[in-house]
Amino acid sequence: MPLHPIRARLAAAALLAAAGLVASGTTSAGAAPTAAAPDIPVASVKAHLARFQSIATANGGNRAHGRPGYKASLDYVKGKLDAAGFTTAVKQFTSGGATGYNLIADWPGGDTNQVVMAGAHLDSVTAGPGINDNGSGSAAVLETALAVSRAQLKPAKHLRFAWWGAEELGMVGSRNYVNSLATGDRSKISGYLNFDMIGSPNPGYFVYDDDPALEKVFKDYFTGLGIPTEIETEGDGRSDHAPFKSAGIPVGGLFSGADYKKTAAQAAAWGGTAGKPFDACYHSSCDKASNIDDTALDHNSDAIAHAVWELAAS
Ligand code: TRP
Ligand code: CA
Ligand code: ZN
Repeated sequence: MPLHPIRARLAAAALLAAAGLVASGTTSAGAAPTAAAPDIPVASVKAHLARFQSIATANGGNRAHGRPGYKASLDYVKGKLDAAGFTTAVKQFTSGGATGYNLIADWPGGDTNQVVMAGAHLDSVTAGPGINDNGSGSAAVLETALAVSRAQLKPAKHLRFAWWGAEELGMVGSRNYVNSLATGDRSKISGYLNFDMIGSPNPGYFVYDDDPALEKVFKDYFTGLGIPTEIETEGDGRSDHAPFKSAGIPVGGLFSGADYKKTAAQAAAWGGTAGKPFDACYHSSCDKASNIDDTALDHNSDAIAHAVWELAAS
């Protein structure tokens, strides 16, 4: 005789928990156990990067604000999210006489008074295709969002993903978004996580230290992998978390390094080449599909999923 459906579900949950496939903690009596974050397939993240590269190649070699490669990148990301069940919105702004676009994707459900956001800038500089800066963050955030859909996650908090325009012109898109929020809506964002350059070819593992709780989520993840991290010290002004932080919203994020040179101590800790920049192709035409360290991209993508799952559950 078949098990009653609810009993079958409970039995399955117990088996998964016993097998260590899901976290054993439950939120309250009758609530479903909170599953651990899935592994993000780096091949899928790289497939998005290959698409960004083709888009740049077909559009004059870049994906910059005001150029056709930007909007084509946005249409690609939006199409994936729409097909996966996200509620998407394209928000326009003007900068330097050209129309810019942010893409906002909400995962239906969760407490909309407690919003966990993750985002990345989708524009490149005009000099090149911008695959590490910042196809890498854009692709990893996209694949994390698609993993939320595959898991049909039912988070306690509301999840929102964002792809920003015109970061390279001075964080124009993200500032526009934060400024457009009513004061009441700003206070509903419990945290914003930023990912700008996470597959640098001579990588470092830098964690933003702006908020201790958000910093800890990432640090603990890398400790579990046995990878030492350093605090991201290039300053608060350099990416899309800055407008959120200025508005009093807790921020966190990851960074694998740009034009600064890797020190001997860092090369001893992380491998790679001392005395060479983390990304020698930063803001150059050679920031193309080959300008990625797959291992760094993989670890950072998995760390994003870990943070999103953990922060949205609690
Ligand atoms: N935002 C820079 C860019 O897009 C990249 C960058 C340099 C950065 N240093 C940083 C991002 C420190 C985050 C933290 O060109
Ligand atoms: Ca992975
Ligand atoms: Zn960038």
